[in-house]
Amino acid sequence: MIVLETERLYLKMLDESSAKEVTNYYKRNRGFFKKWESYKRDDFFSVEYHERLLSLEKNEIGNGTRLKLWIYLKDNDTLIGFINFGNIIRSSFESSFLGFKLDKEQQKHGYMTEALKKALNYYFSVLKLHRVEVNIMPSNLPSQKLVKKLGFIEEGIARKYLKINGQWEDHIHFTLLREEFLENLK
Ligand SMILES: CC(C)(COP(=O)(O)OP(=O)(O)OC[C@H]1O[C@@H](n2cnc3c(N)ncnc32)[C@H](O)[C@@H]1OP(=O)(O)O)[C@@H](O)C(=O)NCCC(=O)NCCS
Repeated sequence: MIVLETERLYLKMLDESSAKEVTNYYKRNRGFFKKWESYKRDDFFSVEYHERLLSLEKNEIGNGTRLKLWIYLKDNDTLIGFINFGNIIRSSFESSFLGFKLDKEQQKHGYMTEALKKALNYYFSVLKLHRVEVNIMPSNLPSQKLVKKLGFIEEGIARKYLKINGQWEDHIHFTLLREEFLENLK
C-alpha cells in the first residue's frame, strides 16, 4: 500500500506478502548494516522470519504503536530502505524511537533526507505526535549529519545504550519536537 509519495520515492506499508522482497533487501545489505545494528542470527535472513515479523509489525501499525515505511524508487519500484518509528506511546509521552536504513547501493543521493522529511511531516502533522528520538553511535557520521540537517537537537550521551554487533555501545541522543519540525518547514 503506497502511503506517501515524494519527487523520487514511494513510502509504502508492507505486510507478510512482501517477506521475500524484504529478506532479499536484508541479505544484500548484511555486511553493510552489520556495524550499526544488533547481532543478527542466520535465521533472521530467512523468508519465514520476515513473514512473522511483517505480520507482527502490521498488527502494531494497526494498533498505533508503530509507523514503518518502506522506501521504493519510483523509477523501477525497487525496495531501497525503510524508516521505522517504533514503540509509539501516547498519553503523556506522545513520542517514539526512530530508525532508518538505506541500501548500500543507493547511498548519498539524498534519498533518506527526502524520505525522512515526508515521513516526519506525516508523523507530526497527521499522527500529531509531540516528539521523536534517535540514538546514533559517535562513529556513525552520515547518520548524525542527516538528522542534524533535519533539525534534530543533540541532548547528550546515552551510555552503553544498545548492544551493537555483540558490544554495548554509547550513543548520541538526538530529539526533534513537533513545533521545531513544523517551524523548519516554513
Ligand atoms: C545514514 C543513511 C541512512 C544516509 O542515507 P543517504 O540517503 O545516503 O543520506 P542523504 O544522501 O540524504 O545524505 C544526508 C546527509 O548526510 C551526508 N552523508 C551521507 N552519507 C555520507 C557518508 N558516507 N559520509 C559523509 N556524509 C554522508 C550527505 O552528504 C548529506 O549531507 P549534505 O546534504 O550536506 O551533503 C545511510 O548511510 C545508511 O543507511 N546507513 C546505515 C544504517 C544506519 O546507519 N542507520 C542509522 C542507525 S541509527
